[in-house]
Amino acid sequence: MTFTSAWRSPSNIALIKYWGKHGLQLPRNPSLSFTLSACHTVMRLAVTPDADSPGLQVSYDGVPKQSFEPKIKTFFSLVEERFPWLSKASVIIDSHNTFPHGAGIASSASAMSALSLCLMDIHDQIHGGIVPQNSEWWQTASEVARLGSGSACRSVYPVASIWGQTPNAPESSDFFGIPWEHEIAPVFKDYRDTILIVSTAEKSVSSTAGHRLMEGLSYAEARYAEARQNLIRLSEVMATGTDLNAFIAIVESEALQLHALMMSGKTPFILMEPGTISLIKEIWRFRKETGIPVCFTLDAGPNVHLLYPNQYSPAIMDWVNSNLTPYCAQGKSIPDQVGTGPEKIS
Ligand code: DP6
Repeated sequence: MTFTSAWRSPSNIALIKYWGKHGLQLPRNPSLSFTLSACHTVMRLAVTPDADSPGLQVSYDGVPKQSFEPKIKTFFSLVEERFPWLSKASVIIDSHNTFPHGAGIASSASAMSALSLCLMDIHDQIHGGIVPQNSEWWQTASEVARLGSGSACRSVYPVASIWGQTPNAPESSDFFGIPWEHEIAPVFKDYRDTILIVSTAEKSVSSTAGHRLMEGLSYAEARYAEARQNLIRLSEVMATGTDLNAFIAIVESEALQLHALMMSGKTPFILMEPGTISLIKEIWRFRKETGIPVCFTLDAGPNVHLLYPNQYSPAIMDWVNSNLTPYCAQGKSIPDQVGTGPEKIS
């Protein structure tokens, strides 16, 4: 018997960055992210437990993609205890992303969260029941996703999520993300993220290698302490929504610190491109001149995420089209916004 499942799951953009891990995908500091909408993965799984020829076949947009298989096999070995049927199953995966693979848009977050949700769903089907997708179910999905990619554990929730223990969120845990939608002011619930694509090239350094560079970095402990403080301050600021300048200061500092850390390692790397710096300066100039509370954040790549309240969309879009797209690869940008979280596809 073959079981099938399909899920759409979004990417997320961290405001407080997860950078540095230990043990089995455990974060060195808590992180907080917005869940995105337009940038997502659609994944379809067909699983035959007790198959005559067990194995894994992965395709992307219908085209076989063997290069994805090692990461998925490693993930399966980590979740086999929870899904024992995986060891003798034939698993066929097809996925599709709405955004360029490897360009610093967290494809592992959307892909690994989509895959985890498909596995959870198939597990429920194998065990013959309609399992209520209650908060415990989502928490388990988040924990499973974490084992695939740390940031993926935040993608299973709508609007915003916190992953990692922090004193201001008593339910928080290093093992799974928690929903953070109800703790933030309305202004943040439809926040915009226009992703300015400076380069669509494959990432030169994987996140996993980046996290590893934190080990032995002399600033590491100071960074983790600062991230913990920044998360506490940011969640206070996001609870009221009245001080967007404070929001901007923390978010931009987190982005610049992430890249400063990458530049400070024994084998440093620079993921920003000249266009990244030009865009940051242009954002600072525009904000100063207009007073519009637009800011940026960066992922582990050169692209710039432009964050702003929805009410400023018309003015920002005019400015993006006239002043910012010249810095983008083929003038490309992706209009995205805070989203409603994963969805099962029938
Ligand atoms: C810069 O989640 O991609 O996007 O756990 O090794 O898969 P792994 O790393 P990953 O790291 C993401 C780092 C980041 C910041 C963030 O999303 O918090």
